[in-house]
Amino acid sequence: MNALTAEQLRALYLEFFAARGHRVISGSSLIPQNDPTVLFTTAGMHPLVPYILGESHPAGRRLCNCQKCIRTGDIDSVGDAGHLTFFEMLGNWSLGDYFKEEAIAWSFEFLTGPAGLGFSAEQLFVTVFQGDDLVPPDEESARLWKKLGIPEQRIFFLPKADNWWGPAGQTGPCGPDTEMFIDIGKPACGSACRPGCGCGKYFEIWNDVFMQYEKTADGRYAPLKQNNVDTGMGVERTIAMLQGKMSVYETELFAPVLEALSAGSGKRMGESETVTRAFRVIADHLRSSVFILGDEQGVAPGNLGQGYVLRRLIRRSVRHAKKLGLAVGFSRPIAESIIGQYSRVYPELEKHRERILGELVGEEEKFEKTLAQGLQELGKVLAQMKAHAQTVVSGRMAFRLYDTYGFPVEFTREICLEEGLTVDQAGFDQAFAKHQELSRAGAEKAFKGGLADHSDATTRLHTATHLLHRSLQHVLGGHVQQKGSNITAERLRFDFSHTAKVTPDELQRVEAMVNQAIRDDLPVTLELMTLDEARASGATALFTAKYGEQLKVYSIGDFSKEACGGPHVARTSELGKFRIVKEEASSAGVRRIRAVLE
Ligand code: ALA
Repeated sequence: MNALTAEQLRALYLEFFAARGHRVISGSSLIPQNDPTVLFTTAGMHPLVPYILGESHPAGRRLCNCQKCIRTGDIDSVGDAGHLTFFEMLGNWSLGDYFKEEAIAWSFEFLTGPAGLGFSAEQLFVTVFQGDDLVPPDEESARLWKKLGIPEQRIFFLPKADNWWGPAGQTGPCGPDTEMFIDIGKPACGSACRPGCGCGKYFEIWNDVFMQYEKTADGRYAPLKQNNVDTGMGVERTIAMLQGKMSVYETELFAPVLEALSAGSGKRMGESETVTRAFRVIADHLRSSVFILGDEQGVAPGNLGQGYVLRRLIRRSVRHAKKLGLAVGFSRPIAESIIGQYSRVYPELEKHRERILGELVGEEEKFEKTLAQGLQELGKVLAQMKAHAQTVVSGRMAFRLYDTYGFPVEFTREICLEEGLTVDQAGFDQAFAKHQELSRAGAEKAFKGGLADHSDATTRLHTATHLLHRSLQHVLGGHVQQKGSNITAERLRFDFSHTAKVTPDELQRVEAMVNQAIRDDLPVTLELMTLDEARASGATALFTAKYGEQLKVYSIGDFSKEACGGPHVARTSELGKFRIVKEEASSAGVRRIRAVLE
């Protein structure tokens, strides 16, 4: 086993797949463009969805890269040895090129061969899909693993919950997967101990997904136009295994942050369970926050969507910082160490240093104020309860303090205890669960469709978005820049930089200009060029791309020219009538337009 650092692992992985015909492409922004199915880029495949569905990729059919990812679904379990909300994912893709045989053979070779990581084949356990009513068991993958020398006892057939992968949205490309685990050598948790059982004996580091189906809106699995491979190897998890560490936090990636935390608090990781957990949560959440704030499409803390997730991450780290006795401003040295650690690989962090530090400390201060208000509110509640000789704070009240003031239930409990009162924890848990259910349902509803939905409706709205962008620049000025785009089958939503409210007259002119471009029946054409060529040709390009990497640039007549993945319609007359439905503020200095095609 080679004790590689993250930097060495990234390089080795990309070299290995480049030597096998893969082009190394840049990673994308953490904020998905055009795609409403997820709030953040959750996997390397996410920006590639259009190509998995059959669009041609300018770099070809074999790709690989390192992608920054955010997953906040299990935010509450962060603090254990392996859960992270931000992580880096190495991936290799076949877009209608090779399939199971090559993918599994290369995974095996990279994990155990001399040109790869040097794990012993004996440490390797794998899982494959066991099949269900709709899709047969993945016998082929099992056979391929056996052929490579993995004995039957180390191949586990598991159900969809374990061995199936698709995007977070309801519809889109998906398929069975085969996951690779390293046995860390600790005793089995019982007779049912197996990869994926959750006891920590088997540590998952890589996943090969065979994207061959598309989940349709009516719940069927239709075969895709092409068989694709989508793989994802977690950088932090893999180096932990290579370095013989029991936890991702013991790797060099976290050392500077943990040192900064020790220096600030005078405490040490491992001195108690509370301190260890607090260190891990702060290190993880501030790393995610730094990457979200420092992204090319950076987002500020807020009450909606990505901004709300960011706010929760920062506030949760403040809560844990309080347990360590850290005061307001604690995030600054931590964030500085994260920027220092990652700027070479992610130069956007250095570029946005001031924004990152300013927003973090600003949010810390805001939270401090909210907590003070919550404290006052709780004081009133306690006084009333005493007056009525009550001793149990209701779960609903504790939840209201949490929901309205961000006042953590542990704080409520501690303060109540000092006053000789208790909190109805079961009642709080109930109110909390109900709230989560509601917000989950809301999120699912809000994030259906999207790029994974490659329908004509979304394609038309995508082309309309380019026309809108250009028209806004004509009417409002060249300062207008895309800040976000989100398309469902029903409407487009476009965020752009502009400080003032857009007047009704300006909106009318923008709308008229888009409709004129539609009536002009302009052709939509595609060219491939590098980022420099694209910019030199006057195209709008939000991308960060490696030197020499080819981008797709779409021109709409002479009206608009923009680097973008597609797809688009062939001629603008296919769009119908464009109508702006709403204009509003999105965040400071950013306006938002919703529009439809009729
Ligand atoms: N997209 C797959 C995953 O994230 C590789 O596990």
